[in-house]
Amino acid sequence: MAPLRPRPGILEIEPYVGGKAEVEGMANVVKLSANEAALGPSPKVIEAVQAAAPFVHRYPDGGARTLCQAIGERFSLDPERIVAGNGSDELLQLLMRAYAGPGDEVIYSAHGFLMYRLTALAIGATPVAAHERDLKTDVDAMLARVTTRTRAVFIANPNNPTGSYLTPDELARLHRGLPDDVLLVVDAAYAEYIGRNDYTTGQELVDRASNVVMTRTFSKLFGLGALRLGWLYAPAHVIDVLHRVRGPFNVNALAQIAGIAALEDLEHQARERANNDRWRPWLAEQLAALGLCVHPSVANFVLVGFADAEGRSAPAASAWLERQGILARPMAAYGLPHCLRISVGREAENQAVVERLREFVA
Ligand SMILES: Cc1ncc(COP(=O)(O)O)c(C=O)c1O
Repeated sequence: MAPLRPRPGILEIEPYVGGKAEVEGMANVVKLSANEAALGPSPKVIEAVQAAAPFVHRYPDGGARTLCQAIGERFSLDPERIVAGNGSDELLQLLMRAYAGPGDEVIYSAHGFLMYRLTALAIGATPVAAHERDLKTDVDAMLARVTTRTRAVFIANPNNPTGSYLTPDELARLHRGLPDDVLLVVDAAYAEYIGRNDYTTGQELVDRASNVVMTRTFSKLFGLGALRLGWLYAPAHVIDVLHRVRGPFNVNALAQIAGIAALEDLEHQARERANNDRWRPWLAEQLAALGLCVHPSVANFVLVGFADAEGRSAPAASAWLERQGILARPMAAYGLPHCLRISVGREAENQAVVERLREFVA
């Protein structure tokens, strides 16, 4: 008898490896490997989760309606056109599954967020990488990869790990070049960190097009990575599809309660944003002054290029930092083996990483 085997393509997937969180033998590490909120969750979130703990025997609201209402109010969106997910990762997977299948093509940017490629492989579709220019999504390169088999285009704005972004005009041009039956997913996971007027989450495109979806997360500025909470804004017909394919209780009750509490704490959000506004430019400046190649970023991390020489490379820098209890993110899985991605931390953490790298380059 033939042995049990998964569908073709599944064994091509290299399991996603998240940012390292521990160093053996060290109690306190500086974790700058996963772009989490530097200041942690709001105290109001902690209170709300503790208050809800005695009720975890009850199933959650399957549609997360109160949460979607709160998101709608905060971002001036129709709550009926919002779906919450178990992290935005789940929503990316649901979109992929609902709109593409075996034999279809899914386009992503060469150094785009890794999950687009992995999720496409998981459903049996063919991931198609469009090359980038200066580590930035290239609209023309993406459009050049469109064929009759293309079902979806996934783009992170800004992109993780490069930190670069498309302007509203560039995003609109990408959308204009796509056939109406191709889904455009704009993943704006880092949107809350950005206050520039030449940046867009893609929200206005969702309003005027029938094939655009914007995804967001509570894992970054809102500091809820462990609870797994994301959401998307989409045309009504896409919302209808997602409610058919999502699990009946896909967002747990504590995540829903924490999301509402996080949205309400505007002061905590402002503190997190101010920390990032202050320390990301500082980190970029200091690392550049060490002779490292720092790529411009609008998010809560910087991508840093190292020399090719032995002892001065990105893996050597990563190992050096790790020995001193600092975790950055190696980038080989993103096709950038000469880079490390460093999340913006608290003041002392940012100073520590700069000091250790100063010693490293010396
Ligand atoms: C661009 C991008 N999209 C999505 C995610 C996943 O977020 P979530 O925690 O909501 O699944 C991340 C996480 O790092 C990300 O960088």
